[in-house]
Formats: sequence, structure tokens, C-alpha cells
Amino acid sequence: MTAKIYWFSGTGNSLSVAKVLAEQLPEAELIPVAEAVNNPPAAAEVIGIVCPVYAWGPPAIVARFIRKMNVLPDSYIFAVMTYAGSQGGAPIIMRGMLESRGLDLHAAWGVKMPENFPPLGSAPAPEKQSEINREADEKIARIVAELQSLPRGHYEVASGFWRILSKIIYPPFCFFLHHRIDRFFRADEKCNGCGLCAEVCPVRDIEMVDGLPNWKGHCEQCFACFHWCPQQAIQYGRSAAVRRYHHPKADLADFRQ
Ligand SMILES: Cc1cc2nc3c(=O)[nH]c(=O)nc-3n(C[C@H](O)[C@H](O)[C@H](O)COP(=O)(O)O)c2cc1C
Ligand code: SF4
Ligand code: SF4
Repeated sequence: MTAKIYWFSGTGNSLSVAKVLAEQLPEAELIPVAEAVNNPPAAAEVIGIVCPVYAWGPPAIVARFIRKMNVLPDSYIFAVMTYAGSQGGAPIIMRGMLESRGLDLHAAWGVKMPENFPPLGSAPAPEKQSEINREADEKIARIVAELQSLPRGHYEVASGFWRILSKIIYPPFCFFLHHRIDRFFRADEKCNGCGLCAEVCPVRDIEMVDGLPNWKGHCEQCFACFHWCPQQAIQYGRSAAVRRYHHPKADLADFRQ
């Protein structure tokens, strides 16, 4: 059985899930969506998409990849989306994207993990992060067990209220607003010009100009630059006091381009 797990992740929550799944599926290949979107790999018998929830739907880059993804007529397609508060109708939105290509999303799971979106508040305190990640590990183990039978028709979605909110908020956020939201980023006086922010950007939205990062307006909102900056020099709007976060098992090498 061939298996490909496509991942998108800014702070390692989704990547940590993708890695566990790839270890459990025989001969599974882990592939970054940021690469696959430009050069879609050959189809596989089992295809997993692992990504965060953005504005109660899948990230826009994942939506673009789904439009191009290579599949076999009988590929089994599943998703695992990580979220901090509610995933809203994200699995239903993703299923709709696949259905518009005549494909099915056979199963979708959600995993609650620590927050990484500054406008929604700081990442939780370290003890709380550990508690959330411990519960997430238990959930991931359950997903691994359930995935063994390649279930069909298994969807975890939020209540009707959140699903309605998804329908209203997701399209404008994801398809019109998100790229230009990088105008709210700036590097403060703590920046030492190391260039790491440019290296971790999955879509090369950052170039170094005169020793400072410059955002070019095609951001995917992953917040890797913000959270991985070793000096905590990147600020977003007024959220200067926000705690930086990455998943305890995240390896910076996986994010460097
Ligand atoms: C742009 C953006 C939008 C987000 N929107 C939501 C949301 O709608 N609901 C939610 O529960 N979490 C939301 N989050 C939080 C992330 O989904 C969550 O922290 C996720 O686990 C991050 O995964 P990563 O480390 O793989 O990037 C958002 C995060 C970002 C950066
Ligand atoms: S990672 Fe931080 S310190 Fe390094 S160049 Fe970027 S903003 Fe400056
Ligand atoms: S500019 Fe920052 S937030 Fe935007 S895609 Fe690049 S790393 Fe992610």
C-alpha cells in the first residue's frame, strides 16, 4: 500500500501529528504542502492531509493544493486538522473542496492543540501547553487506532453555530484577506538580521533588506516567522506581549527552506 501524508504547519502542532501518522502507516511518505502545491507528487493509495484550522476552515495553501492533488480512482483520502478552540466546519469545507473535483473525503479528525494566532491571544502558559499536548497525544493515539480500518464517513465537526460561522467567516478570510495580512508584521529593535524568519517562511514571503525582514504580500498566515524568531523581534499589530510557541517535538530543521 502506498501512502502519502501532506502536511502544512507553522509551529509544529500539525507536523507532530503528521509524523506520528507517517510512522504508523506502512511506507508512508511525509510531504510538505508548500512543496507539493508547486509540483504535485504522484498519486498514492492512501492520502492524508494534516494541517491547522484557519478561520474555521483549511489554510488557503491547502485549498490550492487540493485543487491540484494527484489521486487514484480509489485513493482513500483522510484529513487531520489541529485547532486551538474550535475547528468549526473545517472538515465539511474540505470535503466540499474535494467533492468539487468529484472526490470524497473519507474521514476527518480534529486535534485540539495550543494556540498560535496572536490576534486570538497568547499561546497558553507552559503548564497548560503540556496539558493540552498530553491530551492531544491521547487523541492522536486514538486516531492511529481508528485509521487502521480506513473508516469511511467518519467526520468530527463542531456544533451548528460554529459551522454557520465557518461559512460566513472562512471565505473572505481565506481567499481575500490573508495574503496582505502580513502588512501587520514588523521587526523591532531586537532584530539582529540573522535571516531565520526568511528561512522558515514556507512560501518565501520574506526577503532581507538592509539586514531587516521585509514582507512581500503573499503570506499564508502560518506565523512561523513570528514564533521561530530567536530574538522574539517580530511583532504583529499591537500584540507585543504575546508568548512565542512551538510544539515541544518540533524540529527547526523541518521548517528551514
Ligand atoms: C491564521 C490562523 C487562524 C487560526 N484560526 C483558528 C480557528 O479558526 N479555530 C481554531 O480553533 N484555531 C485557529 N487557529 C489556531 C491553530 O489552528 C492552532 O494553533 C494549530 O494547532 C496550529 O498548528 P501548527 O502548529 O501546525 O501551525 C488559527 C491559527 C492561525 C495562525
Ligand atoms: S529571525 Fe528575528 S532576529 Fe532574525 S532576521 Fe528575522 S526578525 Fe531579525
Ligand atoms: S510571512 Fe510569516 S506568517 Fe507569512 S507565510 Fe511566511 S512565515 Fe508564515
